[in-house]
Amino acid sequence: MTNRVLTLSRLAVAAALVTSGLAAQAGEVEVLHWWTSGGEAKAASALKATLQAKGHTWKDFAVAGGGGDSAMTVLKSRVVSGNSPAAAQIKGPGLQEWAKEGVLANIDGVAKAEKWDAVLPKVVSDVMKYKGNYIAAPVNVHRVNWLWANPEAFKKAGAKVPTNWDEFFAAADKLKAAGIIPVAHGGQNWQDFTTFESVALGVGGADFYKKALVQLDAGTINGPVMLKVLETFKKVKGYTDKNAPGRDWNLATAMVIKGEAGMQLMGDWAKGEFIAAGKTPGKDFVCVAAPGTAKSFTFNVDSFAMFKLKNEANVKAQNDLAAAIMAPEFQETFNLNKGSIPVRLGMNLDKFDDCAKLSAKDFVDTAKANSLVPSVAHGMAVPPAAEGAIKDVVSQFWNTDAMSAKDAQVKLAAAAKTK
Ligand code: GAL
Repeated sequence: MTNRVLTLSRLAVAAALVTSGLAAQAGEVEVLHWWTSGGEAKAASALKATLQAKGHTWKDFAVAGGGGDSAMTVLKSRVVSGNSPAAAQIKGPGLQEWAKEGVLANIDGVAKAEKWDAVLPKVVSDVMKYKGNYIAAPVNVHRVNWLWANPEAFKKAGAKVPTNWDEFFAAADKLKAAGIIPVAHGGQNWQDFTTFESVALGVGGADFYKKALVQLDAGTINGPVMLKVLETFKKVKGYTDKNAPGRDWNLATAMVIKGEAGMQLMGDWAKGEFIAAGKTPGKDFVCVAAPGTAKSFTFNVDSFAMFKLKNEANVKAQNDLAAAIMAPEFQETFNLNKGSIPVRLGMNLDKFDDCAKLSAKDFVDTAKANSLVPSVAHGMAVPPAAEGAIKDVVSQFWNTDAMSAKDAQVKLAAAAKTK
């Protein structure tokens, strides 16, 4: 091609873009997230595709590490150095802390135009707002209190998928006797706490959970139920394998997928891994509420906080991203891959599997019954400083054979006072 023809064809492309309005609006959004496992990456690519379809550029800022601890550390240093991304995966009370710093953008324009107040559960929209203005867009609702099991492994062991903690340990003994690792676990503090909060909910119930882990009530933390929770939690460790320390959660899920392990206590992002591996729910794997928690629901809502930007085209791209996140088509595609359910109300769930349908039903039912509780392990319940302190105690207890449940209880009560 000659230079002249090349120039002309470039001009033609530019003219077409201007006519379609894309060139004038095209911006870039840099998005910080920690979705790097198989299922997570598939879901994240749906978000990227949605944004690119609007003519914008997606700049991926992925920081590996389940639960997002590493991502949050990197985010802090970027914001402090005056180089915020356009959007970052920030959740729960953490959103309020970032908003207080004055670095988040008000996205009420999009929220009003797209009627977010009408299509979001109030428990979610309240968290997405700071002083009445939207500062973040919610993506999904993950249920944390799930148990994932491999039916083949259970059959081989002659075990029954448990519904309470006694049955859990009975099944674990049978799996062990059959040479199968009973519980797939990754020893990282957010994974330890994911197990701990399901034990707390199953042993103590929703009211106990709220008092002890959300209100951080000293009397409840120091009481007999918490002692039982700690003892039950530590007992689970005896059914994990010696390679658990430091293992990523998706590798633990892979052990259940392959039948090396019988079960895993994990939120439904684990389902994203089973699906990405081509497995069918109800056949290759089963989902049941974590022991004793069928009538409760620990929620974890992923959301993207929007940072203040100067460049007008990038602000437009950021607003388009916020609108896209809440659009029904995206809510469907993303959540089918992620293992979660749409956060947007009134969605048709025909394409979703039975685990998702049960989650959607239980989300509504438990909200009515006052047994819908926020996940501590996933940043939904308490401010980050207290969350970090109580997570540290729980992991220290898990990892220290010599520490008694009573010692852990005393330390937990002290950590709960962290401001
Ligand atoms: C959670 C997050 C989920 C999932 C998980 C593991 O905190 O909300 O979306 O990705 O971490 O990385």
